[in-house]
Amino acid sequence: MNAGFCRLPAALWQLAAWRPLLVVSRPFSQAGQAGDGGGASSSGSKEEEVRKLVRAHPVVVFMKGSPAQPQCGFSNAVVQILRLHGVTDYRAYDVLQDHDLRQGVKNFSNWPTIPQVFLNGEFVGGCDILLQMHQSGDLVEELKKLGIRSALLDSEKDHGKK
Ligand SMILES: *[C@@H]1O[C@H](CO)[C@@H](O)[C@H](O)[C@H]1NC(C)=O
Repeated sequence: MNAGFCRLPAALWQLAAWRPLLVVSRPFSQAGQAGDGGGASSSGSKEEEVRKLVRAHPVVVFMKGSPAQPQCGFSNAVVQILRLHGVTDYRAYDVLQDHDLRQGVKNFSNWPTIPQVFLNGEFVGGCDILLQMHQSGDLVEELKKLGIRSALLDSEKDHGKK
């Protein structure tokens, strides 16, 4: 389909390669934005299904393709960022397999694009927000809240703080 739109700019990958600062001074403010406010229409049973899906696991990703075979650069970026942090235990749903799910997720989070990442049942954002969180160190902190120790903490130790 529109593969061009899905291609991730190379510059974004350079950003992704940045080592995150492991100092967090900024409170995490994105999560939960979509949780309550956004006109939770009772009409969509699909949205109810999404609500159940995102609560069923600490880390849930809606993406194009699978983690093994992402069908879009942005979905791939989310998979790679999670991998950098050693997060392999997460639920991934391929919206290309289920058009209603694709729309249901967008309705639920009130966010127009896929991929979408949910932590602890709360909408976090798409690829760009996850990337920002990765760079700022917020992702390490958010994973910690879920009881997940980011692998980057260990690689940080390996490199040795002089
Ligand atoms: C998404 O929301 C629109 C507008 O409220 C609605 O018409 C549609 O049925 C919803 N789709 C799903 C899959 O929930």
